[in-house]
Amino acid sequence: MVTSAIVLAAGQGQRMKSELPKPLHQVCGIPMVKLVVDNIRAAGIEQIYLVIGHGGEQVREAVPGVNYVVQAEQLGTGHAVDQCREMMADVNGPVLVACADTPLFRAETFKDLLAAHKDQKAAATVVTAKVEDPTGYGRVIRNAAGYVEQIVEEKDASPAQKQIKEINTGTFCFDSKLLFQYLTEITPDNAQGEYYLPDVIAALVRDGQTVGAYCLLNAEEAMGVNDRIRLFQADQVLRRRICHEHMLSGVTIINPDQTYIDLDCEIGRDTIIYPNTYIQKGSRIGENCLVGPNVRLDGAVLADHVTIEQAVVLEGKIGSHTTVGPFAYIRPGTVIGSHCRIGDFVEIKNSQVADQSKVPHLTYVGDAIVGSHVNIGCGTITCNYDGKHKHQTIIEDNCFIGSNVNLVAPVKLNKGAYVAAGSTVTKDVPEYSLAIARARQVNKEGWNKLEG
Ligand code: UD1
Ligand code: CA
Repeated sequence: MVTSAIVLAAGQGQRMKSELPKPLHQVCGIPMVKLVVDNIRAAGIEQIYLVIGHGGEQVREAVPGVNYVVQAEQLGTGHAVDQCREMMADVNGPVLVACADTPLFRAETFKDLLAAHKDQKAAATVVTAKVEDPTGYGRVIRNAAGYVEQIVEEKDASPAQKQIKEINTGTFCFDSKLLFQYLTEITPDNAQGEYYLPDVIAALVRDGQTVGAYCLLNAEEAMGVNDRIRLFQADQVLRRRICHEHMLSGVTIINPDQTYIDLDCEIGRDTIIYPNTYIQKGSRIGENCLVGPNVRLDGAVLADHVTIEQAVVLEGKIGSHTTVGPFAYIRPGTVIGSHCRIGDFVEIKNSQVADQSKVPHLTYVGDAIVGSHVNIGCGTITCNYDGKHKHQTIIEDNCFIGSNVNLVAPVKLNKGAYVAAGSTVTKDVPEYSLAIARARQVNKEGWNKLEG
């Protein structure tokens, strides 16, 4: 029997007050719906049915490679699952049902749930959690013997039922045939006028079917994100989880509460991350690096022994033993070699800088190819834009550029060329030559002496 899964992602998420469909709000850089689907896949389930509706096209794009089921009108979670009836007609076996707005479930939990469900040969197993503040969740009602009897939504609950702290997490495992059979029995006869999926549980119990409860040991996983406060809390939980994993694999993180690492990033051993650092969009950091404070890496690749402080790197590559910052901005298309120094107030865009070169301060390098052992003096600017087109600057190995130089592209400094401070270079410089391109100094003697 093949296990399949249904993920509910058709709701609007009104409480988010957002143009963006709720399932696409991100936790640690990944849309919630994608986190849920990825973890279901990681639990070994391949047949996944994603129920989409509100913002369906966008949700579909964010989660490629699953079966899409459209719920045109959002009439409740039971109605949402029922939309899969036709497409799942031939499915026979356990089916996991999860919501797109519970992003903290781990793959192991899905696996354990399935195992418990199979062990007990249950018709249904509901995942529950005991929480301090159950506000907003469905409450799990158990009978005197402790078995689950029904789930009551907050809006339908009596004051006594509202006191119950065991909640429905919205994740279930069902026998697929019984699921679709019993979905025909639920009605929208409740406070919200919706078809509630949890009502299937009460119907199964009534008919004497085996219904199990799988109570989460770690209630944190249960968090349902309905508004942006919960979105922040979910982010906090997952962020801490990510930091702890990196720490356990040998990364020093000075303060995990002030470190923001996306889910899909890599960090090598003995690297130290200082606070207020953002490591995003699949960034990869080597071993023995010093990163931060105040660094944002967005799709960046850092080799080993890189030191970077107070800097932003967008889709750039930094070679080993190179130092970047403080106050540097490395933009897309940039590849910096090893043993380089990129210092303060330096912006580098779409350029290559080869090994052992230095751009120590106050410089803009754009659309340039810089060789190795080059020194670019303070205040150098590659004038790469003529108002219409971008042009390239080539600086070959062992060039030395004095301070306050403009290199008007397209222009080439051949190897070993030397540019005098204050020059505006508009013509190529032959190898091993000195270029001086500035007005000669004139001294007007006594010009400022007071008369008389
Ligand atoms: C639901 C449960 C509640 C549980 C809570 C856990 C029901 C009736 N209630 O409440 O018992 O404690 O989750 O977080 O099931 N959706 C659709 N189509 C719809 C309605 C919803 O696809 O017509 C999707 C939503 O996009 C969302 C999920 O189902 O991903 C849950 O819907 P939501 O409205 O957030 O349910 P809750 O009120 O949180
Ligand atoms: Ca919810």
